[in-house]
Amino acid sequence: MNLRKRLAAAIRPVLARYGEEAVGYADLVRPAQQPRFGDYQINCAMAVGKLIGRPPREVAEEIVRGADFGELVEEVSVAGPGFINIRLSDKWLADYLTTAVADERVGVERVEEAKRFVIDFSSPNVAKPMHVGHLRSTIIGDALARMLRFMGHVVITDNHLGDWGTQFGMIIYGYKHFLDEENWQRDPVAELARLYQVVYNRAKPAEIADELERLAKQAQADPDVLARKRDRVVELAAEAGLDDWQSLREAPVDRLREVLGVLRERAEQARAIAEAARQETARLHAGDPENRALWETFMPHCIEELNRIYRRLDVHFDYMLGESFYQPMLESVVNELLERGIATESEGAVCVFFGEDEPPCIIRKSDGAYTYATTDLATIKYRVENFDPDHILYVVDYRQSLHFKQVFEIARRWGYTKPEYVHVAFGTVLGPDRRPFRTREGGTIGLELLIQEAVNRARRIVDENSPHLSEDERQQIAEAVGIGALKYADLSQNRTSDYVFSWEKMLAMQGNTGTYLQYAYARIRSIFRKGEVRLEDLLSGGARVLLSHASERDLALKIIRFPEAIEQAVREYMPHYLTTYLYELAETFSTFYNHCDVLRAESEQLRSSRLLLCELTARVLSTGLQLLGIRPVERM
Ligand code: ARG
Repeated sequence: MNLRKRLAAAIRPVLARYGEEAVGYADLVRPAQQPRFGDYQINCAMAVGKLIGRPPREVAEEIVRGADFGELVEEVSVAGPGFINIRLSDKWLADYLTTAVADERVGVERVEEAKRFVIDFSSPNVAKPMHVGHLRSTIIGDALARMLRFMGHVVITDNHLGDWGTQFGMIIYGYKHFLDEENWQRDPVAELARLYQVVYNRAKPAEIADELERLAKQAQADPDVLARKRDRVVELAAEAGLDDWQSLREAPVDRLREVLGVLRERAEQARAIAEAARQETARLHAGDPENRALWETFMPHCIEELNRIYRRLDVHFDYMLGESFYQPMLESVVNELLERGIATESEGAVCVFFGEDEPPCIIRKSDGAYTYATTDLATIKYRVENFDPDHILYVVDYRQSLHFKQVFEIARRWGYTKPEYVHVAFGTVLGPDRRPFRTREGGTIGLELLIQEAVNRARRIVDENSPHLSEDERQQIAEAVGIGALKYADLSQNRTSDYVFSWEKMLAMQGNTGTYLQYAYARIRSIFRKGEVRLEDLLSGGARVLLSHASERDLALKIIRFPEAIEQAVREYMPHYLTTYLYELAETFSTFYNHCDVLRAESEQLRSSRLLLCELTARVLSTGLQLLGIRPVERM
């Protein structure tokens, strides 16, 4: 049972006496800040008092008299300007938890009205270095899918692969010019990654071509320019990948002039390569059979590469409808938007305009190419028509906020007003230097190494703690703990902020980490093993929860808040509400365990009561971890 909701429901009929608007304040029920005042606090009297022009204290007293809290409340009092303090009944708490032991959902009810969600997450650009941002989307998206499903919603997960972008032009160009046949036969994915890198590196100096040209002109007019701009020349040489760029710091000006010439040549070649790659992309998009065939050859390898990572992360998708899937629909999307006057032609392109100070959204470029936005609009139409969602969530980097704001607005103008569109944005993963975190090797391969590193580090911890377990078992635990730590580090942050990646913090046995929670769970399980206790025996023996000690009551109160934590995480699409809760639960348990003997409790009744509290805690921890996509382990 969600107590916050239950208490809100109890005051709603009283608030109804003050009118519709007052009822809206019923949800102002919070866990009490100060335990000495009670367990929950209802804070609506101030707002309602203001609304109807009466002293809040009077309103609070009326609410207290009028509400039927049933037997779950022991004591209600009004404090200060009109806070209503609620103290739950110990008897009710104990009875409730006794029955909760038999409930595999530990008191979490399903929503009354299931909604349909499409969750668009992970969505990497295939055949291109996948960065930790995509890992973040994968982890957060998966946790949201699990929580929403658990609450009883219908969830459709869709991986909107970037499988139609300019990276394919680069790879096709690379395949045609630089293919290492042997490597391709042996390890196609590695060869594709290599080809991408080769073409990327060769095309990159195109970016500095203009600057080099300007510099050359200036140097002609004024021979001292190169000496003055030496630092910049050195930088440009480094950027263009010149081997001996370091030596230029000291080199004579004549050498700088020479280098400038070399750089300009490279930049020109780079331009030609970039242009050639662009043309390969254009040919692919225009349906050229050779390029299409190459794309079809590459794709299964790219997908298998991704699937290997998803399997290891235990992440699954109902659909993987990538950008390529929507290509046949783009023309009609643009035409429809033009016909309805939502889009207009402007300087040869087709755009949708917003306010004065917002850039327009281009849905067809002047060269006829469709854009990322056009694809997303086709995707919305497809999803609405095929999945009929109430909500569409996009778990994507916050840097794409403007894109989504515009796409959502266009979709609404287009008439797709039923779904609520949500950009579930997240911040950047930073390295220890506080710059965007990069895996040294880059790419999916880098991501795999990252996962492997987490598992290796976890293995060291497991080896140290549990040398008595078999090799095989230790490896399995390490896999769960390492990947769990990686996921938890991400999920425990408020997703909207950037966070600093740190192996040490992530795998710490103390503090708010996945490792600590997994350990807390395994420790409770070990109590049962050590005492040779079987839950069935406890239950058939008539065990009941008793609250004899303050720390038992604290633990009981924490346990009953599990539904509230999930509800909040789901309502705001913020998994960290659940992690914070689980961490607090583990801490509360730890206090309880320090104060109360379990296996050697004073009496048989107390022993079984405490074992039930242990069982409930373990159950909440394991359910909670699984909702985050983390596999709990029985020993560690
Ligand atoms: N592939 C895109 C990227 O890597 C993310 C796609 C997100 N989903 C979407 N429907 N736009 O930036």
